[in-house]
Amino acid sequence: MCDRCSGVMRPADPERVRAILFDYDADPGRFLANVQAVAQYGLAGDVHQAVAERAVEEAGGLALDLGCGEGRLVRELCKRGVSVIAYDLSATMLAAVRGDRVRGDATRLPFRDRSFGAVAALYMLYHLADPRAAIAESYRVLQPEGLFAACAPSRYNDPELAMALPPASPSTFDAENGPQLVADSFDEIEVQCWDAALVHLPDRPALALYLRGRGLSEAEIADAVDCIATPLTLTKRGALVYGRKAA
Ligand SMILES: C[S@@+](CC[C@H](N)C(=O)[O-])C[C@H]1O[C@@H](n2cnc3c(N)ncnc32)[C@H](O)[C@@H]1O
Repeated sequence: MCDRCSGVMRPADPERVRAILFDYDADPGRFLANVQAVAQYGLAGDVHQAVAERAVEEAGGLALDLGCGEGRLVRELCKRGVSVIAYDLSATMLAAVRGDRVRGDATRLPFRDRSFGAVAALYMLYHLADPRAAIAESYRVLQPEGLFAACAPSRYNDPELAMALPPASPSTFDAENGPQLVADSFDEIEVQCWDAALVHLPDRPALALYLRGRGLSEAEIADAVDCIATPLTLTKRGALVYGRKAA
């Protein structure tokens, strides 16, 4: 049995807050492996549909998708007739998105105050050293009563893979610290947490794909698939945080 898979859970390191590596131009295949693994082996939908529906029901006007990636939320909004600007720092990710696109940093938005009815920042604020700047910019560009949505995994996500993944440690925006970060800028917040068996990996290739999506190297994946039994059901933990700007 290799060191990684000795079966001993490595202790959490709550002091070490880190921004998650930005690899979308250097290694776009890593994120696409994550998208593919969740699409193929997920047992329930992700947050994108719910956020799009809420934007339709509760926020009028133009939407802004910060860190849009390959456009999952953009597609959900377009299907529902919402006009949206896709915004991302990665040229590689933006190239995959149809419609209005702007390349830039979420911490400095090139838009006027009160331009949008809804702003989303799904699974992206943990890439920022200080997500408060992007949250404050989102507040600035929202209209009164505008809706903000952000989400992130928990630092205790995927406990079944604890022996293969780096030790649990806080990111700059995760399910534990994210609600307070949004509450610090917004007038009202609402938090929806998940903690459930949401991914089922039937075999070793599925586990390998999932671990590629989690950023493990080829050697680490080879070690892990030798040591971790499949089929394997993963407990996904995370939070979706809505923020509302006052009238
Ligand atoms: C995990 S992906 C999430 C994509 C999409 N929001 C989704 O839910 O599928 C994170 C995205 O955030 C983008 N990103 C990271 N840092 C950024 C920044 N400072 N400004 C804008 N986009 C950023 C990345 O390029 C990437 O496309």
